[in-house]
Amino acid sequence: MFRFLPKKISFNDTIEDSEKHLIQLKGVVKAFKTEAGDFLALKNVNLSIGIGEFVGVIGKSGSGKSTLINMITGIDRPTRGEVFVANNPIHRLNENRMAQWRGLNMGIVFQFFQLLPILTVIENVMLPMDFCNLYNPRQRKEKAIQALAMVGIAEQANKLPSQLSGGEQQRVAIARALANDPPIIMADEPTGNLDSKTSAIVFEVFEKLVASGKTIVMVTHDADLAKKVTRTIIIADGKIIEEFLTKTFPALTQSQLVWTTSKLKTLKFAQGSSIINQYEPAENFYIVTKGEADVWVKTKSGKDYHVDHLKRGDYFGGICLIRGCPSLTTVRADSKGALEVATLDKDSFDQFVKVSPATREIIQKTSDQRYQSLYDLIEENNHVDPSLA
Ligand SMILES: Nc1ncnc2c1ncn2[C@@H]1O[C@H](COP(=O)(O)OP(=O)(O)OP(=O)(O)O)[C@@H](O)[C@H]1O
Ligand SMILES: [Mg+2]
Repeated sequence: MFRFLPKKISFNDTIEDSEKHLIQLKGVVKAFKTEAGDFLALKNVNLSIGIGEFVGVIGKSGSGKSTLINMITGIDRPTRGEVFVANNPIHRLNENRMAQWRGLNMGIVFQFFQLLPILTVIENVMLPMDFCNLYNPRQRKEKAIQALAMVGIAEQANKLPSQLSGGEQQRVAIARALANDPPIIMADEPTGNLDSKTSAIVFEVFEKLVASGKTIVMVTHDADLAKKVTRTIIIADGKIIEEFLTKTFPALTQSQLVWTTSKLKTLKFAQGSSIINQYEPAENFYIVTKGEADVWVKTKSGKDYHVDHLKRGDYFGGICLIRGCPSLTTVRADSKGALEVATLDKDSFDQFVKVSPATREIIQKTSDQRYQSLYDLIEENNHVDPSLA
């Protein structure tokens, strides 16, 4: 039987791969029962968030942002799939265990601050310590003042929440989230109810927390704030937009990203196996998503030249689709391990470059450069190949 003792995450003993996987969602589906049948708010979400990341979650209203946050905080459970935080299976914890574990390890900030109106500011901040029975009463007070000082409102400690402005109340909520010094902060539109000046102050507090080693996942509608986080996750219609797409093709609009994600298919190739072969017809556009690949060209004399090494986010195959020529090179998964690529078939690729001329231009430019260096290489080696002329 699975036994679980709520305890504070210790990065030394529970995290094996400290770079990755502090938060992991695997195949998460969330269905809500409605009169019209099951509604899928999350559709097979896979996600991995590492220690110290500052993640912004963006997407239209109703896209599934809060549902995603609730899966990670354990406020709600997935219908299918798994959620791990620091290797703890959140989806398997009962509510009591989850609440205790969350109290130790996660600070949660909501859009509507959810402070208790009859308690003073400092009493609100001390609540999580009381709940988890951490520290003695004197220490609790000290810690609460420290947390309030961190968000710049220690002098308001004895007021009631109703005596504070919205921005100040949100800072109290953040101080409460910090009370137990949790390594993870989850915030669902923490600035949704604040003016832009106050939002900037709250955001600065988050930046300081990330600098001090915390991991923050923040839902936001604020496009300016979304630009400042270290990683953006776009969610649309219950699905996470492939992040490599956002990075590789920054000119794509959100709706183009959504469309492209829906057309991408993942293919896996074993170490050393070829994805495309020189002279064979080009049928797909490929983007490397995992692993690395080598690009080879065979000259007329039969000699193989290594011309390029492709990493995550690099793409190939586009120029042949644009020009309508066979493959000029052979691309193989490298010798280090398996390769995963996301592919668009020819029709989808044609549509993809048609709707985003800026993206077409980037692909064209990259490909022209590659074509030129390929040609130079062949010429240099004095083996001019008719197919390249
Ligand atoms: N308890 C529920 N029962 C039925 N449907 C729900 C429930 N909770 C959420 N949904 C639906 O799931 C979808 C995603 O909701 P969610 O609250 O995650 O959206 P969101 O991206 O946070 O939106 P917003 O930006 O408006 O906060 C919506 O269509 C919503 O109507
Ligand atoms: Mg929401």
